[in-house]
Amino acid sequence: MRYRTIGTDPQTRREVSVLSLGAMLFGTATDEATSYAILDRYVEAGGTFIDTSDNYAFWVNGGQGGESEELLGRWRRNRGIGDEILVATKLGARPLAPGTSFTDNPEGLSAKVIRESAERSRERLGMAKLDLLYAHIEDRTVPLRETVEGFAELVAEGAVGLLGASNHRAWRVERARSLAAAAGLPGYEVLQYHHSYLQRRTDLPSDLDPDGNPGAVGGDLASYLRAEPELTLVAYSPLVKGSYTRPDKPLGAEYNLPSAPGRLAALREVAAQTGATVNQVVLAWLIGGEVPAIPLVGASSVAQLDESLAAVDLELTAEQRSRLDGAY
Ligand SMILES: NC(=O)c1ccc[n+]([C@@H]2O[C@H](COP(=O)([O-])OP(=O)(O)OC[C@H]3O[C@@H](n4cnc5c(N)ncnc54)[C@H](OP(=O)(O)O)[C@@H]3O)[C@@H](O)[C@H]2O)c1
Repeated sequence: MRYRTIGTDPQTRREVSVLSLGAMLFGTATDEATSYAILDRYVEAGGTFIDTSDNYAFWVNGGQGGESEELLGRWRRNRGIGDEILVATKLGARPLAPGTSFTDNPEGLSAKVIRESAERSRERLGMAKLDLLYAHIEDRTVPLRETVEGFAELVAEGAVGLLGASNHRAWRVERARSLAAAAGLPGYEVLQYHHSYLQRRTDLPSDLDPDGNPGAVGGDLASYLRAEPELTLVAYSPLVKGSYTRPDKPLGAEYNLPSAPGRLAALREVAAQTGATVNQVVLAWLIGGEVPAIPLVGASSVAQLDESLAAVDLELTAEQRSRLDGAY
């Protein structure tokens, strides 16, 4: 395994593995024994960065979520896991009632929700302090200052270590960070977005935002990350849920861009040169990029995870990287 630092403040920054493991479906679609086997294998391979949320995975059983955090809490206790494994969680997108969703009935990011939902996450995970807490989606019904101050209070109290944001417009991240900096408060340092080698269309309608889905890395966010190297990009769904390689999971319309065929051809070419799989080339491309990303992979079997873990040792040459970067 290889490691890197996230965050800048010597009091709160952490060293984590360059590959993160998503626990989204653990405890719902993925049963307990399989989830434990995947988590154990990840830790055995040196993985130290696990991702969950207070709303995972509400859509599987039509509830409000929390099963993933609860499973991680049981696994942590059962395996005696402590500070050495960073568990990141999120709040803001938990549906307020069963049968609803974050698109129509989210808990949001008021100071009250931030305090109460973080407390529930700490209970489910069995952690006195949440290592990394993200705002899962935006909440424009609440003044941004209230959200910023709500998160900062938890850091000041020692209930949270690092702060992050997911699925936010770049300008909203920048505004929140500016508000925090001007007030001498901790701000978002870890940004979690969908990012992969194939680019995702940004023009499709979205339930989250009338201007299109804000959850993928686009030009504005990429430019922001390049300008602010102290920020960390965590790239969710980097394998596009298996669609690079699986006929049973074809790429959706959101990847239907003119660049897609050329990029898929470049991927296959580099995979053939290196002897690695297409999925591994995607992950290596993300890890070793000019603005490096931490791929946040999902797995429903140990074999899938093993394929992703092996990508950590794949070094692309400058020629291979420029072949991939230049394909469109
Ligand atoms: N912030 C957000 O809004 C957000 C959104 C989505 C996800 N996330 C986070 O990101 C994590 C990962 O998301 P994801 O599951 O969408 O990521 P992903 O890595 O793109 O997809 C994982 C899925 O791909 C398939 N897969 C994985 N390895 C494979 C392999 N070697 N060969 C063939 N298929 C393979 C499996 O599908 P099958 O199970 O069907 O076999 C697996 O469940 C989540 O757990 C969650 O923590 C965050």
